[in-house]
Amino acid sequence: MAGPAAWRSLLARGPRPLLGHVVRPSTSTATPSSAAGDDAVLHGSVNDVRGYDEVPGPRPVPFLGNSWRFLPVVGNYRIEQMDKVCLGLHRQYGDIVKVAGLLGRPDMVFVFDADLIEQVFRGEDALLPVRPSMPSLDAFKHGIRKDFFGDLAGVIAVHGPKWLEFRTRVQQVMLQPRTAKLYVGAIQDTADSFVRRVRRLRSPAGDAPPDFVNEIHKWSLESIARVALDARLGCLDDRPPADTQALIDAVNTFFMNVGVLELKPPLWKIFPTPTWKAYIRALDDITNITSGYITRALDALRETEHAELGPDASLLQRVLASHDARTAHILAIDLFLVGIDTTSAALSSALYQLALHPEQQEKLHGEVVRVLGPDGAVTASALEDMPYLRAVLKEVLRMYPVVIGNGRTLTEDTVVGGYLIPKGTQIIFQHYVASNQDRYFPEAGRFRPERWLREHQAACPAHPFASLPFGYGRRMCIGRRFAELELHTVVAKMVQNFRMEYNKAPLPYRVHPMYMPHGPLQLTLHAR
Ligand code: HEM
Repeated sequence: MAGPAAWRSLLARGPRPLLGHVVRPSTSTATPSSAAGDDAVLHGSVNDVRGYDEVPGPRPVPFLGNSWRFLPVVGNYRIEQMDKVCLGLHRQYGDIVKVAGLLGRPDMVFVFDADLIEQVFRGEDALLPVRPSMPSLDAFKHGIRKDFFGDLAGVIAVHGPKWLEFRTRVQQVMLQPRTAKLYVGAIQDTADSFVRRVRRLRSPAGDAPPDFVNEIHKWSLESIARVALDARLGCLDDRPPADTQALIDAVNTFFMNVGVLELKPPLWKIFPTPTWKAYIRALDDITNITSGYITRALDALRETEHAELGPDASLLQRVLASHDARTAHILAIDLFLVGIDTTSAALSSALYQLALHPEQQEKLHGEVVRVLGPDGAVTASALEDMPYLRAVLKEVLRMYPVVIGNGRTLTEDTVVGGYLIPKGTQIIFQHYVASNQDRYFPEAGRFRPERWLREHQAACPAHPFASLPFGYGRRMCIGRRFAELELHTVVAKMVQNFRMEYNKAPLPYRVHPMYMPHGPLQLTLHAR
């Protein structure tokens, strides 16, 4: 770690000119004599640079550091309430906060200011961004199931050249708008099945089914299977295949346990704790169940193997055409790992917010009926003609980003917010706290989708780094286009079919495992 001696030696060199927020001194003048090594490069002006020790934050105690704060009973940091923990850190310490001395893991430095978030994200442009996530998944992919994953283990929990190689293989196909557009029919079909199922399961008074969130999970799983496997799983049928629920449960178990394994002292590295065992079982289930589907999808595709790849070729066909079956399978596992709970949390949150805000719901209904008619289908061009629909989703994800924080591990010593932060530290972007501040979004606590409409943005543009629900840069969400397509389509269909109300006690938001309303989502759904 770069200690006071390192930054003092930097200060002795005098200030360097500022280029925007970040300075990249030439190698000949930039090499600090820091403990991080002679090859460390500094970003940021060294004028007024303060030492890492001076970054404000809760004080670690001897032996347990700050880890005790995550312990039951004595600690006050609850993983499921990280929103409140982070609001508290921001209130108490300001825009940059260090949580140091965490047993078995690097320090975390939280940044709550959009300019600082921009600085760190932009600084990574020339590097291979490392998202500090999931050493436990890394252990699964590169240790326990190395036989299956091999060297190219996907993008989740993979870093450096291996990440770049895999991401390069799949990102062009995944992020092309025309690829997502090919799925409008399949996604619309899935949204229709969801609406029909909800209609069937409603009580005579219109109450949503008791485990509505599980029904939402099924919609999400069915949607991702259409994208990743070209398969119709039948999750929304009356008699879904047995492994469907097993897959949903496994993904949920994976997410429920990953936070515990990462933020609490990593005892799993010493012996297999019950949490670790449940986590590995869940990952094995996900790998095995998806293997079955992948094999079937590949068999079906083999028949068309020699056919020319037309413009309508699916994601799976395109990946198979340019790479191999293993790449397609590993990609599918990654998409299943992160593409189910994220979209179901976002849909739960969107329906809940619309039910709480009848005025905005009516405005959206007006737009949907204008573009689709009372029972018309969603098409690619119809989606482009529904700005209020897009604004509603943006506003939901601004106020309640389902991934409440994101991060990068610094690969070089970096000046952030005037402090010299050593290489290896995890910078955590607390999107939830940033995007709920009045300084970026006036009346940030009010649900106002209008703020995202073009007229409003022209007059009062939002800070581009104040609300980043899908991340940023070379490592940003690779499924964004699919997520948006799925969510826009199903929200439009729900609003077209139902007037939604929520008349029960308000639901708190919790990180459970995504950031979403916690408790039974007891909406009342009146047929339109
Ligand atoms: C509302 C829904 C979703 C949200 C809010 C979301 C958010 C995110 C965020 C914040 C990241 C980290 C980005 C970064 O580090 O800069 C991410 C990464 C990722 N997401 Fe999503 N996501 C969603 C849905 C999906 C879906 C449906 C898929 C799959 C089709 C998907 C696939 C991925 C993958 C593979 C990565 C890792 C990318 C990499 O490390 O290279 N996501 N997502």
